[in-house]
Amino acid sequence: MTASYPAIRLRRTRASGWSRALHRETMLTPADLIWPLFVTEGSGVEQPVASLPGVSRWSVDGIVARAKEAVSLGIPCLALFPNTQPERRSDDGKEALNPDNLMCRAIRAIKDACGEDIGVLTDVALDPYTTHGQDGLLDEAGYVVNDATVDVLVGQSLNQAAAGADIVAPSDMMDGRIGVIREALEETGHANVQLMAYAAKYASAFYGPFRDAVGSGGLLKGDKKSYQMDPGNSEEALREVALDIAEGADSVMVKPGLPYLDIVRRVKEHFEVPVFAYQVSGEYAMIEAAAAVGAGDRDALVLETLLAFKRAGCSGVLTYHAAHAARLLGG
Ligand code: PBG
Repeated sequence: MTASYPAIRLRRTRASGWSRALHRETMLTPADLIWPLFVTEGSGVEQPVASLPGVSRWSVDGIVARAKEAVSLGIPCLALFPNTQPERRSDDGKEALNPDNLMCRAIRAIKDACGEDIGVLTDVALDPYTTHGQDGLLDEAGYVVNDATVDVLVGQSLNQAAAGADIVAPSDMMDGRIGVIREALEETGHANVQLMAYAAKYASAFYGPFRDAVGSGGLLKGDKKSYQMDPGNSEEALREVALDIAEGADSVMVKPGLPYLDIVRRVKEHFEVPVFAYQVSGEYAMIEAAAAVGAGDRDALVLETLLAFKRAGCSGVLTYHAAHAARLLGG
């Protein structure tokens, strides 16, 4: 009996490290990462977030130190989120419009210290400022009203742009907000401020630790299903993205990350625009929990999940592991 040999051996190119490196299709570098940071009041303050082991809220001076660290690691952009003090929260979230709020002070401090060495992305939504933890204004029935919320989001965006934000990123999922924010930015001399639309943002169970970090978790009444997307939907994500691009978004985001890589791929193939994904707080916490019980190697899990975003078509990833990953990548 003659042995039969496979004509093609895909294992041949996998046999050694140099060959695997040569044939690798997707690369992850520190330049692919956006680092989300939580800002809190005070000075010299670091408050660990219990549900996000390894992540802290920092006062503005600590945020500046993180920004310098990011620059030295080759991370091109930070995403800022405020932990607004309870006494500054209100039903209408008007602290979002205060030119001296925590966000604006953090943006200015980073820009003063680092200038063009790093980009600052800011979140547009009212949940860090409202007493009810919803992203917009409520009517008597508790429904998040669209158009009145958009009016406030425009003011919030201009407030952040005036403080020096480089990328304004609406995460509120109101209809029509990208177009009016774009127009307002143009009219106020902010033509080069980018808009990254949280275009396909799902009503997800993976946001819990984030809500703890910004202090809205305990306040939130109900859920966000009347504005965030249903996890069963994929075609609808394409409609959301189409609208945001037509309204002037420079880039779009899919959120959460790993459970929605199919959406990333569909969006990328359909539109050929820059697509970002947010590896959200619950995803980070799952990796940390798995590593803590020895179910996986932390560093390997971090790098493999981040590489998966690139393979799916992402231009970059928002991840709480950004600094750690950049270090692993030799940044
Ligand atoms: C709120 C916002 C959320 C996140 C980013 N912006 C939470 C929410 O929609 O309730 C989640 C990020 C994360 O979980 O890491 N506008």
